[in-house]
Amino acid sequence: MSHNELQPSELGTKEYWDNTYSAEIENFKEFGDFGEIWFGDGCSSRITRWLEKNNIDKNQSVIDLGCGNGMLLVKLAENEWKDLTGVDYSQNAIELATSIAKSQGVSINYQVWDLLSGEEVFEKEKFMIALDKGTYDAISLSPDDSAQCRRKYIEKVKDILKPNGLLLITSCNWTEEELRTSFCSSGFEVVSLIPAPQFQFGGSSGNKVTSLVFKKTRSDKE
Ligand SMILES: C[S@@+](CC[C@H](N)C(=O)[O-])C[C@H]1O[C@@H](n2cnc3c(N)ncnc32)[C@H](O)[C@@H]1O
Repeated sequence: MSHNELQPSELGTKEYWDNTYSAEIENFKEFGDFGEIWFGDGCSSRITRWLEKNNIDKNQSVIDLGCGNGMLLVKLAENEWKDLTGVDYSQNAIELATSIAKSQGVSINYQVWDLLSGEEVFEKEKFMIALDKGTYDAISLSPDDSAQCRRKYIEKVKDILKPNGLLLITSCNWTEEELRTSFCSSGFEVVSLIPAPQFQFGGSSGNKVTSLVFKKTRSDKE
């Protein structure tokens, strides 16, 4: 990887997410609050719109990697996507996501899974579409060897995606260029940049959040 490493943070630890979702479960029970929508509802809408505009068949298998409260999958279910799976390494996230899906009357398959564990939970090349909103970011903040964690993540995504399968990844920690560098050197090519609103700060403008669509081009390891 040719880019700089990020400073490790508590957002790169399972303990942080377990505690976060434990509090969010209580908020959901007490107030019906779904919890944090990472990168805002607009970001989820741009992802679902991209899938629809590109005429992706709604029967295709979709997995949300590090699904958290599962609200992106709920949005897809409400838009008639049928084959939806959400995974997260936090049991509390899966408990919250399962309760929310039930409350919304949608059918989503949820499973606890640490993407970096090496555990083979799904058969190879099972999914046509993988979604990631903030999970590669969280993994990149790991206090463990984060470059190694990112490599494992990329290999795992390649493993579970069908040939020509798509990864729609949204990041606030890596630029478009950095994401391209990491994924295009590891068996993916860029299909599309999902345009996000521009922000202005100190006279310069840019995108805070990058959403890129990659296509798996090969299965072999580097
Ligand atoms: C920034 S949150 C985003 C959650 C969700 N994608 C969303 O948009 O609301 C990052 C998520 O990644 C999950 N996560 C981090 N590392 C993981 C790993 N190794 N395996 C599975 N999930 C992981 C965390 O538990 C957390 O739910």
